[in-house]
Amino acid sequence: MQNFIHNIPTRVYFGKGQVKALRKELRARATKILLVTGHGSVKKNGIFDDVLGEVKDAKVSYCELDGVDPNPRLKSVHKGIDIVRKEGVDLILAVGGGSVIDASKAIACGAEYDGDVWDFFTRESVPDKALPVGCVLTLAAAGSEMNANSVISNAKKQRKLAMGAAVLRPAFSILDPEYTYTVNSYHTAAGIADIMTHIFEQYFSHTPATDVQDAIAEGLLKVCLKYGPVVCDSPRDYDARANIMWAGSLALNGLVGEGKVNDWASHAIEHELSAVYDISHGAGLAVVVPRWMNTVLGKDTAAKFTRYGVNVWGLESKEEPIDIAKQAISRTQEFFTRIGMPGRLRDMGISAEHFKDMAKSALRDWGEVGHFKSLSEVDIIDILDSAL
Ligand code: NZQ
Ligand code: ZN
Repeated sequence: MQNFIHNIPTRVYFGKGQVKALRKELRARATKILLVTGHGSVKKNGIFDDVLGEVKDAKVSYCELDGVDPNPRLKSVHKGIDIVRKEGVDLILAVGGGSVIDASKAIACGAEYDGDVWDFFTRESVPDKALPVGCVLTLAAAGSEMNANSVISNAKKQRKLAMGAAVLRPAFSILDPEYTYTVNSYHTAAGIADIMTHIFEQYFSHTPATDVQDAIAEGLLKVCLKYGPVVCDSPRDYDARANIMWAGSLALNGLVGEGKVNDWASHAIEHELSAVYDISHGAGLAVVVPRWMNTVLGKDTAAKFTRYGVNVWGLESKEEPIDIAKQAISRTQEFFTRIGMPGRLRDMGISAEHFKDMAKSALRDWGEVGHFKSLSEVDIIDILDSAL
């Protein structure tokens, strides 16, 4: 295991009715907040009214930024920064899924920076200051509610880039599983595919002696296998929603990946897809991941896939290790289809037209794509071709 620092200062309020904690948090931290939302789901399902009730009781004033897109755009971030500066906002409150939270984080550090916030995503600069961000999470997927990352799309340049900085960890996050009841089955399933892929990206690694991280990863994956189909079929099952929600936060708050080399190839490839085609991130991953697994399966990676097959899928350890590895990959693909994810890229209107450019762009943006197996431009194109 490698050295690491574990520091997650985000205060999590988990469970039914925890929105009530907003009052205390806002009173203690803010005088004027920016409320950030997406395309209206929280206004239809009543979450926004709950939040507003607490904001008013806290006696803090507020202004609003709505219309943040899934795959949040740089232009919304710029708009938010302008509002923050004009209105003297001192806390950003994100009410939504990963897109709303990521936009809020970018606004929080962009407002404290003299240059263009896009510099952070192109790695020309690193945020060292940010306004506090609070979250009311409404969709279990990205893990942004407890982590230090933000992913923003620059539509003009067709680039979707991630950044990370300690100052971006939310100050607090409210996780009420009931707030995810209204997420439709497609976005619920995409969220599960995203959560599982976050775990894969950290689990499949050559770093030795990471038993703690690997055991946590396998446990979280089993939770996804158990409750994934339940939340897709019975969206108001509290226990299933609760387990998926907490698994989503733990999958990407550092716990699973600290102390080891992570992979992130599937994310590098998927971000290219959603930058050009604006597809749902989790749906893109559900298609890419099984093909990535098939491509990287080889002599020096097979043992981990076999372990995955035995410990997560419960496959018989008496079988040939390579057969267990292959079966585990097929099971993964079948699972994504079972919960309603597309099976192929063409199901999402994607053709091979941009594959070469995407492979080049992923290598340029990520430096190296993949660490469990480092992928060449040809490998990336092969993965995309086989997913077509
Ligand atoms: O636009 P709204 O009204 O918010 O509707 C959203 C959107 O249409 C809807 N939704 C959210 N909560 C709902 C709901 N509908 C009904 N009831 C509710 N309670 O769901 C749709 C998708 O929302 P979005 O926020 O885009 O989904 P998600 O949480 O999956 O976030 C995706 C973004 O996160 C990035 C992705 O790349 C993508 O841009 N990621 C961020 C990461 C991070 N910050 O660490 C890591 C991830 O790997 C990922 O890259
Ligand atoms: Zn993801």
